[in-house]
Amino acid sequence: MNARQKLDDPALLDTLATRVDAARRLLREIADDFSPAAFANSLGAEDMVLTDLIARDRLTIDIFSLDTGRLPPETYDLIAEVKKRYELVLRLYYPRHDLLEAWTLENGINAFYESVELRQGCCLVRKVEPLRRALAGRKAWITGQRASQAATREGLPLRSVDTANGGLTKFNPLAEWSEREVWAYLAQNHVPYNALHDRFYPSIGCAPCTRPTTPGEDVRAGRWWWENPQSKECGLHVKRS
Ligand code: ADX
Repeated sequence: MNARQKLDDPALLDTLATRVDAARRLLREIADDFSPAAFANSLGAEDMVLTDLIARDRLTIDIFSLDTGRLPPETYDLIAEVKKRYELVLRLYYPRHDLLEAWTLENGINAFYESVELRQGCCLVRKVEPLRRALAGRKAWITGQRASQAATREGLPLRSVDTANGGLTKFNPLAEWSEREVWAYLAQNHVPYNALHDRFYPSIGCAPCTRPTTPGEDVRAGRWWWENPQSKECGLHVKRS
């Protein structure tokens, strides 16, 4: 699916309009009542919808990305494009160099292929620890997760208390959106998106841990493809509440 799809399905456009209204209302509520709030932007298709919605209403929601140091070049290109197009501040958080140096010294540069534990250890240093810093002092954070993306995201709520990150409120404004609605929004609003999406990468993470999918495969089948679907989370989204 990509943003070149035809926008000629009235039912789709109707549902999309309703979804957009609801998401805009929720984002405004977050900006008004949950300040300081931050949006974790991976630059994936869903996150480009949220970027566009936040920019469109000039909401006071900070936007950040976790630069793991191993993102694909296409993601860096999009980071640069977003800054230009929206004139907004997209703050980048990096892994702590001392933790990363110790981890690679002990385990090796590509150790994440060896076991789920090592892969999660890499995600911990490159994503989860920087996320904790990005969320420090926040009242709420926002993600682009959708319930239908993966087995691990079934029943994803619009809002929850994120006990794993100190009890702040976590919002998933696109929880109920379909993949088709995401792409219809991007097409309708001429929103830039990651070039890899046009090369059969529906979900994009770090370069060595993401590969293209084949037709009919789950949208997250290309993430940590050597692992079982139930273990495929990086640790940013721990369900504890
Ligand atoms: S995840 O397992 O990597 O987290 P996914 O790529 O589906 O899965 O991302 C889900 C949500 O987590 C994104 O919509 C975004 O809010 C957040 N997220 C994931 N990766 C990053 C990143 N590198 N920087 C900022 N937020 C991220």
